[in-house]
Amino acid sequence: MRITHLLVLFLIVAMTAMLALPAFAADGAGTYKAKCAMCHGPNGEGKIGPAVKGTALTADQIVDLLAKGNDAKKAPHKKPISGLADDDAKAVADYVKSLK
Ligand code: HEC
Repeated sequence: MRITHLLVLFLIVAMTAMLALPAFAADGAGTYKAKCAMCHGPNGEGKIGPAVKGTALTADQIVDLLAKGNDAKKAPHKKPISGLADDDAKAVADYVKSLK
């Protein structure tokens, strides 16, 4: 009987972990630190690139800039940011908009 209880407990823990994973996959703050902070500063205050905190762009426009690039912009935003999945772009755009 005890072993069955442990097994059920283990299954519940495993399933909870699996459900939680997609939330980690689209971690806006983590993506920002890994791919944007070196140019835009850890808090979006600007560094090599301009400040992104308080940007006039909407989250959708940021997603567009990251996912497609914009020829009118300077590097690196002429081209899409590499290695950025769609949901990461959305998460990082929401994160940028949350910076105050
Ligand atoms: C290699 C440095 C660099 C990296 C990495 C970088 N950026 Fe930029 N970013 C820039 C520069 C330079 C500009 C200004 C481009 C221009 O105006 O022509 C810019 C502009 C922007 C703008 C427009 C700001 C405004 O108000 O007009 C946003 C938003 C932005 N970046 C977000 C990001 C995000 C999010 C990431 C990470 C996924 C990122 N950038 C990665 C250098 C960088």
